[in-house]
Parts: sequence; C-alpha cells; structure tokens
Amino acid sequence: MMVVRIFASVALAASFLVLSACGGGSGDNSVPVFTPQPTAEPSPTPEPAATPAPTPTPEPTAEPTPEPTPEITVTSLSELADFPIGVAVAAGGAGNSIITSTGRQAIVSAHFDQVTAENIMKPAYMHPAESTYSYGQADELVNYAAANGLAVHGHTLVWHSQIASWMTNYSGTPAQWQTMMESHITNIVGHFADDDVVVSWDVVNEAISDSNGALRESVWYENLGEDYLAMAYTAARAADDDALLFYNDYNLSGNGTKLTGALAMVQNLLDDDVPIDGIGFQMHVSSGWPTNSDIRGAFQRVVDMGLRVKITELDVTVNDNENLTELTLEAEIAQAARYQQIVEAYRDVVPAHLRGGVSVWGITDGDSWLPNFKGRDEWGLLFNDNFSPKQALQGVADGLSSP
Ligand code: G3I
Repeated sequence: MMVVRIFASVALAASFLVLSACGGGSGDNSVPVFTPQPTAEPSPTPEPAATPAPTPTPEPTAEPTPEPTPEITVTSLSELADFPIGVAVAAGGAGNSIITSTGRQAIVSAHFDQVTAENIMKPAYMHPAESTYSYGQADELVNYAAANGLAVHGHTLVWHSQIASWMTNYSGTPAQWQTMMESHITNIVGHFADDDVVVSWDVVNEAISDSNGALRESVWYENLGEDYLAMAYTAARAADDDALLFYNDYNLSGNGTKLTGALAMVQNLLDDDVPIDGIGFQMHVSSGWPTNSDIRGAFQRVVDMGLRVKITELDVTVNDNENLTELTLEAEIAQAARYQQIVEAYRDVVPAHLRGGVSVWGITDGDSWLPNFKGRDEWGLLFNDNFSPKQALQGVADGLSSP
C-alpha cells in the first residue's frame, strides 16, 4: 500500500510540473517554471557494435547420409551361368504377354535362356474340355521361344488347381480316371515332344500336404490313390523320352515335414523304377525365411538322392511386416543379398551335373502374383515396372559369379 501511495504522490507532482511548463498556469512567477534537469543517469554510451555471432557450424543431422545406390552392372545373367536361367512369362491374351511386350522381350533376350508359361500351359488352358485340347497359345509361346533361342520348362500336367471344371467333376471308375489322366498327359507331352524346345516338365505339382507331409487329398489322390503318381510319370516318359521330369512343390526348403514327406514319396517311386529326374523347389521365399542353412540342407538331401535340383519359381518378398508403401533402398539391398545367397547356396551344394537351373517367377514386380496373393504391396522380382533393373538382378549376378 505504501508503495502505491508514494507512486500516486509522485505522479501528482509530476503532472503539476508538466502542466506548469506547458503554460498551463496563470503567468504568476511565484510558480517556478519547471526546467528539465539533466537526468541523474548519464547518457548511455553507445554500445560498441555487437560482434556478430560466429555462423554456427551446421550440426550433423540426425538422419544418416543416404547410402549411394550401388551401381548395377549386369548385362546378362545367362552368360554367367552353366545351367539354365529361366523366367516365368505371361502369354496368350494377357496384357503383359511376352509375345507383344517389347520391354519384356528385351529383358528376356538379355538375361534368360529358358521360359516357363506362368499360366497358359496349365491343364485348364490346354485341356478345357474332355475332348478338346487347345494349343494355340502354348504353340505361340513355344514358337516364340524357338525363334529366340529359349528353352521351355513345361508347367504343369497334374495339379489340383487350375484344372478345368470338367476334370474336377469327372465321374468314372478308377480305370476311367487312369485313362483320363494318362490321355491328358500323353496328348500334351506328345504334342511338344518333337520340338526340342520343351525340355522339361513339372509332371506333378504340389502333391504333398503342408501340415503333415502326407499326400494331399486332391482329385487325383481321391480317385486313383497314391498310384496316380507312378502313372503320371510313366505316361510322361512314354510320351517324351528325353524331357526331364520333375516333381514340383512349394515350401520344401522351409518346412522339414513337407520336405521329408515329398522325398519319401519320390524315393518310393524311384525304388519302383518310376522315371523322375529331379525336384523342383518353387522357392517363394522372403528376405528372412527360410534360413540359409535350411535351404542348403534341403538341396543337399535331394543331391544325396542323386536327383537334379531345379529352382522353379523363385521370388523374394520384402514386405512381410507390411510396413512399406514403397520399395526402400534398404529393403532392395536386403532382397539382393537374399537372391545372391540363394544362388550361391545352389552353386555350392548342387554339383554341376545335377543343376536343373534357376527360374524366377515373373519379369517385373508388377507382373508378379505376390501383391494379389498376399493382399499387400510387394516387390519380389528382378525388374521394376519401367523395366529398369533392381539391385536383385545384381544379387543374382553376384551369386552366379562368386568364386
Ligand atoms: O485370365 C483371367 C482373367 O480373364 C480374369 O479377368 C482374371 C480375374 O481374376 O483372372 C485371370 O486369371 C488369373 C490368372 O492367374 C491369370 O492372370 C487367375 O484369376 C489367377 O488365380 C491366376 O493366378 C495364378 C496362380 O498360379 C493360380 O494358382 C498366378 O498368375 C500364377 O503366378 C500362379 O502360379 C503358381 C504356380 O502355377 C504353382 N506354384 C505357385 C505359383 C504361385 O501361386
């Protein structure tokens, strides 16, 4: 309170003095004219100009400097390999058909010496009705391959999927089922037998169950029992005595139970002199699964049986955690390392005379079955959608060239 009162008095006195100085008084000299007194405070000496602060050295940013994108120097995969280097291609009426896409044609002719039809040589396409074989699209592909120095791996003859509904719904005795299946194989394999372009077949595809390694209960198994396997390979060999005949399946390198079941099945067939030349490892894998040692161990088991190993459908997912909305350089480099590791494992473990080859399952990431099947973004293959090469291409090349 005291402070307030003193302040009020001083303010009042000051007002009075100001008013007086402005002539607000009566002119009576008894009232002293206010002369401004020098302030008690000295005029401030001008501050020396502030020394400019030194320009701060930029702090290193928290983000690491981005790695430079490693150069991709591959001109041809197939020239680096002493075994077939293949790729699955679309054909027929597909928008990305190898027959019409010059971008894909350039890639295939530079890097591959074998093709697999991604779809059009499956039963539903080539045998759409019991008495109808439809070879137009397949012939077009095989002719394209022949004209361009490519071999064809036939995919596939006996499968539970992508068969025409007439086959699924076929009604007959076991003997009729046998005749139906053998005619199917004889007709198709025979159609391509003389051309020396179709050099191998996935005769039976995916016959083993994932859960217990037993035979899958497909229409073939349900109607013919396990004998359908021997019948299929025997018919295929009879129709083409020099095509290589494979048993093809997925998850063989990542599911030990399934691998054991598949190899036991094949060994039983070999013991009965059924003609099987090798095992097709589809290898739809990820950057981290299966382990390298599981992959090597699986190849080794097949080699130990004296059978060929063919990697038939290789692709490598990178977005298993579903956290990528675009392919980062980091993921691309991890994927390339994975491709390299798989190819190195193949060359290390499989002796040259048992190498059936390595095929990737599609050309560009946009061609791949993976996004659709996984329901997420994926970039599993060796080329971008604009046909530019990915680090994965370099990974395969490095795997083919390492000592
Ligand atoms: O051609 C029709 C088109 O007319 C229609 O409009 C469209 C609508 O869905 O479907 C088209 O057919 C699709 C076909 O691919 C051709 O693009 C089928 O729906 C689709 O299911 C089919 O997927 C194929 C899948 O096998 C079928 O199981 C994939 O392209 C093919 O990459 C994939 O390949 C399999 C191997 O044969 C065996 N191993 C596993 C591998 C991956 O699943």
